[in-house]
Amino acid sequence: MSIQTVGVIGAGVMGVGVAHNLAQTGYSVILVDIADDILAHAKEEITKNIRLQRMLNRKQNQESVETLLNRITLTQEYGLLTDVDFVIENATEKWEIKKKIYELIDPICPQDVIFAVNTSAISITRVGSVTKRAQQIIGTHFMNPVPMKKTVEVIRGYHTSEETITTTLELLANMGKEGIVVNDMPGIVSNRVLMLTVNEAVYLVQDQVATAEEVDRIFKSCFGHPMGPLETADLIGLDTILYSVDVLYESYNDSKYRPCPLLKKMVDAGLYGRKSGQGFYTY
Ligand SMILES: NC(=O)c1ccc[n+]([C@@H]2O[C@H](COP(=O)([O-])OP(=O)(O)OC[C@H]3O[C@@H](n4cnc5c(N)ncnc54)[C@H](O)[C@@H]3O)[C@@H](O)[C@H]2O)c1
Repeated sequence: MSIQTVGVIGAGVMGVGVAHNLAQTGYSVILVDIADDILAHAKEEITKNIRLQRMLNRKQNQESVETLLNRITLTQEYGLLTDVDFVIENATEKWEIKKKIYELIDPICPQDVIFAVNTSAISITRVGSVTKRAQQIIGTHFMNPVPMKKTVEVIRGYHTSEETITTTLELLANMGKEGIVVNDMPGIVSNRVLMLTVNEAVYLVQDQVATAEEVDRIFKSCFGHPMGPLETADLIGLDTILYSVDVLYESYNDSKYRPCPLLKKMVDAGLYGRKSGQGFYTY
C-alpha cells in the first residue's frame, strides 16, 4: 500500500517532531490531541522548528514554510483518522491513556493500517492485545528532536508480521531514518539502560553527592557524552522519565526500577524540564 497520509496522535514533544518530519518529507499529516491550546502550541512549535532548521541547514529549492504547514491538519477529531494510511501514536507514556486510544482507533482506522507506538517503555505486545490487528502493531521509538535524529529503535511485538516491519522500515527510510529492529521487552534496549541511569543520577543529586551540573560534567568530560544524564532528562521531560520508570517498575516487579523521590517531587511541582522552562536547569 502506498502511504500518503499519516495519522499522528499526541502533539507534545514527540508528536510535534514526528509531524514536522513527515511534512518535510512530503506526507500529509492528521495531528490529533485533546485540547485547542495544546494544538495551537504544537503549531507554534512546528513553525518555529521548521524556521530554525532552515537557518541551520540552508539548501536550494526548499519548499516554503506554508507548504509544509499546509500538509498538517491539527484536530481533536479522531473521526478524521478514517482515511489515514498509517498511524504513529505519541501520547503520554501512561498505559491507561494509550490503551484507551488504541481501543478508540482500532474500529475507526481501515483494517490494513499499521499502528506504530512511539513509547519509551510500554510493551508493544500489550498494545497489540487491545486491538484486533496485533500483526500490524509495531514500536517506533523515535529519538528527540525527531527531525534531527537519524535512527529509530523499531520494536517487534510478539505478533508483529514481517510485512509490518518492512512497511515501517520503508516509511522511516522515506523520512530519512534508519530503523534498528529489536524484540519487545518493556524499555527495549535504550530505555532499560537510560532510564536507570537518569533515575540514579537524580538520586546522586537528592543525596547531595553532587549538583546536577557536576553530575553532567563528569559524564561529558570523563566519558565524552555530548549531554549529561540530567540535561538529557530535561530534554526528554521529567514527567515522561517518571512515567517510563513507573512502567519499568510495574513491568519487571524489580526494585531496581523504583523511581527516585526527588524525581516524583519535581514532577509534582511542575518542573518538567525544557518543556515547562524549569527542571534541573532553567530555560
Ligand atoms: N520525550 C522524549 O524524548 C521521548 C523520546 C522517545 C519516545 N518518547 C515517548 O513518546 C510518547 C510521547 O512523549 P512526549 O515526550 O511527546 O510526551 P508529552 O507529554 O510532551 O506529549 C504527550 C501528548 O499526548 C497528548 N495526549 C494525551 N492523551 C491523549 C489522547 N487521548 N489523544 C491524543 N493525545 C493525547 C497530551 O495532551 C500531550 O500533548 C511517550 O510514550 C514517550 O514515552 C518520548
